[in-house]
Amino acid sequence: MNQDDKKQAAAEKALSLIPKGTYVGIGTGSTVNFLIDALARSKFDIKGAVATSQETERRLTAAGIAVVTPAESGRLPVYIDGADEINHSLQMIKGGGGALLREKVVASISDSFICIADDSKYVSKLGKFPLPVEVLPFARSVVAKALFRMGGEANLRVGFKTDGGHEILDVTGLDLSRPLTMEDELNKIVGVMDNGIFARNAANVLVLGTKYGAELISAK
Ligand code: 5RP
Repeated sequence: MNQDDKKQAAAEKALSLIPKGTYVGIGTGSTVNFLIDALARSKFDIKGAVATSQETERRLTAAGIAVVTPAESGRLPVYIDGADEINHSLQMIKGGGGALLREKVVASISDSFICIADDSKYVSKLGKFPLPVEVLPFARSVVAKALFRMGGEANLRVGFKTDGGHEILDVTGLDLSRPLTMEDELNKIVGVMDNGIFARNAANVLVLGTKYGAELISAK
């Protein structure tokens, strides 16, 4: 089983966790794309979806699934999304696809966050994956200096703008041993729109694709 097979196994297992007839939050990335394909194939009876990116909006629309805004959906029972890393407390690094700000908005209005991922993402310690920090372009150098003072090295994601028109700094070297504290500290820097630590909005359950198939994992 390769990584794509594992992503697909996780995505298909997550289908069974979606309540029928409701709006669902749908994230962004290659693992979520397997979920959208599975939703389309199964003609699954959801009312519609709130998408965390324009790319996901396009894919959902092509699959015949209605896309609505958070204003239209109100609170969501379930949000399903991938992660770049997820630890044993189900805290995550997200934003590899650059959709982290909308992802955090959707997480904040969702009763349950179901993370779908292949087993390469499940780690004991966050931080090998460079942390995406979304910044107002005007404030990029100000934020980069503040990150440097915190021990981080910021690398601009060249040629990339988020759906909100912002830039991404991919940051290495920060101490992520206390994810909740670091998430809050980074968001205090003026010019930071949000960062890719999802500790305040950790997942409620992880659907992990492994060589044996998909398994459900809770926070340890
Ligand atoms: C996008 C994300 C994705 O969930 C994350 O990058 C995982 O992507 P993939 O499923 O392609 O591995 O946070 O901003």
